[in-house]
Amino acid sequence: RWSKVPLGPEDAILGVTVAYNHDPNPKKINLGVGAYRDDEGKPFVLESVRMAERILLEAENAMEYLPVAGDKTFVKNALKLAFGSECSAAPGFENFAGMQTLSGTGACRMGGELLARFYDAPDVYLPTPSWANHTPIFKDAGCTVKGYTYYDASTCGLDFKGMVADIEKMPPSSVVLLHACAHNPTGVDPSKAQWDQLSALMREKHLVPFFDMAYQGFTSGDADVDAYAPRKFLKDGHHMILAQSFSKNFGLYGHRVGCLSFACDSVAEAQAVESQLKILARPMYSNPPIHGVRVVNEILQEKTLESKWRLEMQGMAERITGMRMKLRSGLEARGSAKIWDHITSQNGMFCYSGLTPEQVGRLSTEWSVYLTKNGRISMAGVTSRSVEYLADAIHAVTK
Ligand code: LMR
Repeated sequence: RWSKVPLGPEDAILGVTVAYNHDPNPKKINLGVGAYRDDEGKPFVLESVRMAERILLEAENAMEYLPVAGDKTFVKNALKLAFGSECSAAPGFENFAGMQTLSGTGACRMGGELLARFYDAPDVYLPTPSWANHTPIFKDAGCTVKGYTYYDASTCGLDFKGMVADIEKMPPSSVVLLHACAHNPTGVDPSKAQWDQLSALMREKHLVPFFDMAYQGFTSGDADVDAYAPRKFLKDGHHMILAQSFSKNFGLYGHRVGCLSFACDSVAEAQAVESQLKILARPMYSNPPIHGVRVVNEILQEKTLESKWRLEMQGMAERITGMRMKLRSGLEARGSAKIWDHITSQNGMFCYSGLTPEQVGRLSTEWSVYLTKNGRISMAGVTSRSVEYLADAIHAVTK
């Protein structure tokens, strides 16, 4: 009866974990999925999250359905975290349409669905490369996916000239997906001055910025500093779209906590957008999960918990920076003939190593070190104990 269903391939990112799980080698390392690990290599639950959960347990809240668009207070808190308390309290901010989503994936998907259904020019331009899931998300939503120049393999940095040239050529009203910080997979972000220039250019060309902010806090360790780009674009008056994930910065991966928002021209326009987002969500999943947003609300509404969370966020970013330095110096100490500066110049959770698919293959078969085929290393999975082994492995396959 189901014989017409062909066997599909594993996901480019999540499939790495499947391969890792099958490997019996005790020295194996999973540097595939972008999920933070502590220095013991263990999944990390933030203490601020545990404290919030204890409060919630005591409160014995009901477990009723949330509204289709999710928890309104959470959406407010999410927007405040993205845009800062001053800006989110300013007049005009009520023109924002927002909904709770199934993390960043759900936010991008719902944004794509709304564009495909109601926007006349649903061409979405993604940076080359972008998160592997972006293309299927926007295609499955019904948008046409195109690309723009972003990464320069010769410098392992940003090809800003190429990016600007491509943006200049985009037809007006096109949607441009931008990674707000800690670009996935390259770890390469525009500077503040470059963001300013991009904002002006996109205003001039009447383009719509669609920010995906999945790693707020992971570039600098400070969530406010990392929100520079969306804050600047908001100030410059863009009709922007913002997808937020709370998976990484609150460590709430499996709880699927996210937010999607649209900067609208009026309260009435915002209400219309929200009404349609609800109509899209209802037949897909009815309403979003309740626990994770309660945790985020507890943390962001209580000063002591929020300060604790900010410190923990900074701690995660600092541990990753430390691992970047150790991996780079480890490779240099082994006499590697290759240049590894980009390990420390790139930001966020990932290092776009420049390793070829063949070298990545050798890392898994000869060393039980697992990464995505594009050479992306999740630095968040490297530990003080594994970093020397990793340097041995990378050095061996790049000789
Ligand atoms: C990643 O890029 O590894 C993360 O965003 C997790 C995912 O769902 O792909």
